[in-house]
Amino acid sequence: MELRLTRSTIRDWRSEDVASLVHHANNRKIWLNLRDSFPNPYTLADGKRWIETAASESPVTSFALEVNRQAVGGIGIMLKGDIFRHSGEIGYWLGEEYWGRGIVTEAVIAMTQYAFSHFNLNRISAGVFEWNPASMRVLEKAGYQFEGIMRKGAIKDGKLINEHIYAILLDESHAAG
Ligand SMILES: CC(C)(COP(=O)(O)OP(=O)(O)OC[C@H]1O[C@@H](n2cnc3c(N)ncnc32)[C@H](O)[C@@H]1OP(=O)(O)O)[C@@H](O)C(=O)NCCC(=O)NCCS
Repeated sequence: MELRLTRSTIRDWRSEDVASLVHHANNRKIWLNLRDSFPNPYTLADGKRWIETAASESPVTSFALEVNRQAVGGIGIMLKGDIFRHSGEIGYWLGEEYWGRGIVTEAVIAMTQYAFSHFNLNRISAGVFEWNPASMRVLEKAGYQFEGIMRKGAIKDGKLINEHIYAILLDESHAAG
């Protein structure tokens, strides 16, 4: 898979990405905004394990964000099951030195379109921690709607926090795209 965008390329993870992955992922500011399954510190072993996991997915739903020929972030869709099988959850992160250039907004728009056209989804959501206005802004710019707050539903960095829920439906994505 490869989506060539103006600011980045979304593509499969490759084993040679590991050094760049670890360099950019090993950042507490990134960890603070993701689930605890994203490690901190982020070691070489963590990077290797992640790339192997992504490569073994079927279908592949975890991708690298490439800028200047380096994998400097990640973006993916978690597919849900059972009664939620037409729903997915988008997740993303970008190396700090690239923040504020519109890279993730463009990638979320493209990934959303890709996910709707490949994974038989009707809804894609995202949960954003209360202290992360940049990610809320990204989702708004990508056409996601704010739906509400899961009050104190998550624990991160030892604090019980609110999670802001955003979502886009298939119909709405035609308009957004
Ligand atoms: C959140 C993150 C993905 C944003 O990526 P990015 O490429 O810098 O995002 P963009 O440049 O496309 O857009 C960021 C927007 O947030 C805005 N923003 C940044 N900091 C902000 C703040 N403190 N308050 C309000 N808005 C803010 C920017 O101004 C921009 O909006 P604009 O275009 O209207 O000016 C990136 O910072 C990141 O990886 N953070 C850590 C991991 C993370 O939070 N992942 C998402 C978990 S839900």
